[in-house]
Amino acid sequence: MIPSDIIAKKRNGYELSSNDLSWFIKKYLEEYISEAQMSALLMAIYFNGMTEKELVTLVREMINSGQVINFKKSSIYIADKHSTGGVGDKTSILLAPIMAAAGIRIPMIAGRSLEYTGGTIDKLEAIPGINVTPSLNKFKSWVENIGCAIISQSKDICPADNKIYALRNQTATVPSIPIICSSIMSKKIAEGIMGLVMDIKVGNGAFIKTKNDAFKLSHLLEKVAISYGLKIDIVYSDMNQPLGRYAGLGCEIKEAIDCLKGNGSRDLMDNTFELCSCLLIQAGKAKDKQESKEIFDKIIETGKAFEFFQKMIFNQNGCLKQFEKNIIPKFEKIIRSHKDGTIIFMDTEKIGWSLIELGCGNKKKLDKLDNTAGIEFFVKPGDIIKKGSPIYRVFNTNSKKLDSTSELLLDTIRVNK
Ligand code: URA
Repeated sequence: MIPSDIIAKKRNGYELSSNDLSWFIKKYLEEYISEAQMSALLMAIYFNGMTEKELVTLVREMINSGQVINFKKSSIYIADKHSTGGVGDKTSILLAPIMAAAGIRIPMIAGRSLEYTGGTIDKLEAIPGINVTPSLNKFKSWVENIGCAIISQSKDICPADNKIYALRNQTATVPSIPIICSSIMSKKIAEGIMGLVMDIKVGNGAFIKTKNDAFKLSHLLEKVAISYGLKIDIVYSDMNQPLGRYAGLGCEIKEAIDCLKGNGSRDLMDNTFELCSCLLIQAGKAKDKQESKEIFDKIIETGKAFEFFQKMIFNQNGCLKQFEKNIIPKFEKIIRSHKDGTIIFMDTEKIGWSLIELGCGNKKKLDKLDNTAGIEFFVKPGDIIKKGSPIYRVFNTNSKKLDSTSELLLDTIRVNK
């Protein structure tokens, strides 16, 4: 087979055979196919989409590129949640310990930042010592012992996604619906779970900008889930403003801890509850939303949520004592409104890119991230503000980047008289 023939076939709008796709993925992992050739294929898929047959092959090849976890047979429900990505989205870090406290096992494989969206793994790595790349046996034992763990894609699980994920980030090929679907579903199926709740973020700070595209993606996700015997629920959530009070790295972990202790912002807690509720109902722990709300609230009020979070971090070698000291930024700046009025729009994608500029994500392949970097949001759409009142607090440990980010943030808010 000739790589450029396969690329040309997709570029010209033809369907790739199972053999074409399987061979391409295998040879990419063997480094016979170059990064340039894979980038070209991704771009051809970005423009021409994929048929359902191609998607099924891609998912299968991504799964088969690594191992699939097999949990011991037991009556405990094993499930996971995944988000299509947003700004300030830290719900995974809340959901895993809350669900473990409810008796549902969560073996979560999460990602790093993609384009302007934050990565759960990057945020967790702000905790000193944390291990997000354990052996699969260790990962399984963590989940079996305390009920949850959050790790990264690796050479063991879906290495094809691991490699393609990083490449998509550099080649403007992230927002392709079939590729998003294959990236998510391959990891989730490899986890050996029984059920999944998907959080499809829709809005100006998400890869999925319209309801129509959200429905297209959910159709594909459901199709793949059904073909692997996985229960699936889909939640659509608004990403026309950052989620919660902070976006960044260490500051999002700190915010997650506050939430687990019962001091979360309304939007973040509502989103987390919606997702937890689906899993509680799937697992048969609650018959409806009202019952799941009682379980959810009790887990937080009794301190169980934070207790399970501590156990999860401890198991993964993370040191929470050191954490707060390690995320103190050297510099900060307050961005103020230059107008009186009502906020009618937040450019959430631009806020996301500002966070990357600040040090929270990769611009090149292996940028060193700044765990102290982030933004605190004082306002949301609908709020009435006065000229000179604070909109954002921006912080990090690199004054040059702080200045360039502050410039970018200036026109991320539209205010109407
Ligand atoms: N999460 C993933 O794992 N992959 C995507 O493509 C988007 C979000």
